[in-house]
Amino acid sequence: MNKVRNWPRITIYFYQGSKVKFVKETARNQRLIASSMAGISRRQAILQTLSINSNDRIMDVGCGAGHLVEQLAKATSGQGQVYALDPSEDQLAEARDRCSDLSNIIFLHGSADNIDLESGVCDIVTSTQAYEYIEDIDAALLESTRILRSGGSFVNVSILWDYFRFYGPDETLNNLVHDAFKEHCYHQMLPMELPGKLRGLGYKYIKNESLAFMVSDRDQNSPARYLETMMANFAVTHGVSKKDVEDWRVQLTEAEVEGRFGFTSYPVLTSAYLS
Ligand SMILES: C[S@@+](CC[C@H](N)C(=O)[O-])C[C@H]1O[C@@H](n2cnc3c(N)ncnc32)[C@H](O)[C@@H]1O
Repeated sequence: MNKVRNWPRITIYFYQGSKVKFVKETARNQRLIASSMAGISRRQAILQTLSINSNDRIMDVGCGAGHLVEQLAKATSGQGQVYALDPSEDQLAEARDRCSDLSNIIFLHGSADNIDLESGVCDIVTSTQAYEYIEDIDAALLESTRILRSGGSFVNVSILWDYFRFYGPDETLNNLVHDAFKEHCYHQMLPMELPGKLRGLGYKYIKNESLAFMVSDRDQNSPARYLETMMANFAVTHGVSKKDVEDWRVQLTEAEVEGRFGFTSYPVLTSAYLS
């Protein structure tokens, strides 16, 4: 792991040449994104898609700071069981803190491809923007399917990263930063591949639904504000000069001031039932 000092008093951790790890500053930024309108709207979409019963047993794969876990635990009225799985201790610590008043959550420190649960124990497996960060996605999906009972539901939200884009800076500079950011996860277009993978695992009624959105500012509720920081931090540790990244950020600000800034993202909600 490399330690990169970018700004006074802020230490940013990235793994040079590898995918993003949700620790330290990156985990903090991810939590801000999860608390923004982008996180809120996708949690609403997941909860609307799942018809949760009070005694359901639900797994959240890659639970992060537990924003969804908290809502799932409340939706099961204390009688069901929620499992919150994540390999990042930083994220799990935040999730434990957020959910400290709820007694029906079991936190699991581990990876989606090796879950410490018996087969068929879950009525629902859900995940938000975690599978695209898992190199062996097939092993992870197989493991999620193992813990799901027959007839259980699977709901995933992942991003079509080819359509994740800031608008405003000079095109060449903008492409430079976006191209570097492609390295940050393993699966750029997972929602396109997921239906076929799920069919192969025995799922039925597989549906993809667009949660695409655009924003035109970077205020405190805007995911663009925190994604810009995350992308900039990633780019400087993945071959883009500090000067280019600084120029990119200045140009984003100029574009916003001049009313020609934009940010688009294309999350997709995939739902399916295990037959
Ligand atoms: C973008 S964050 C999303 C967190 C949370 N689901 C949310 O929506 O706020 C991705 C999460 O996936 C987790 N993750 C990465 N690799 C994983 C793996 N192999 N198994 C399970 N989770 C993983 C990360 O630690 C991180 O918390």
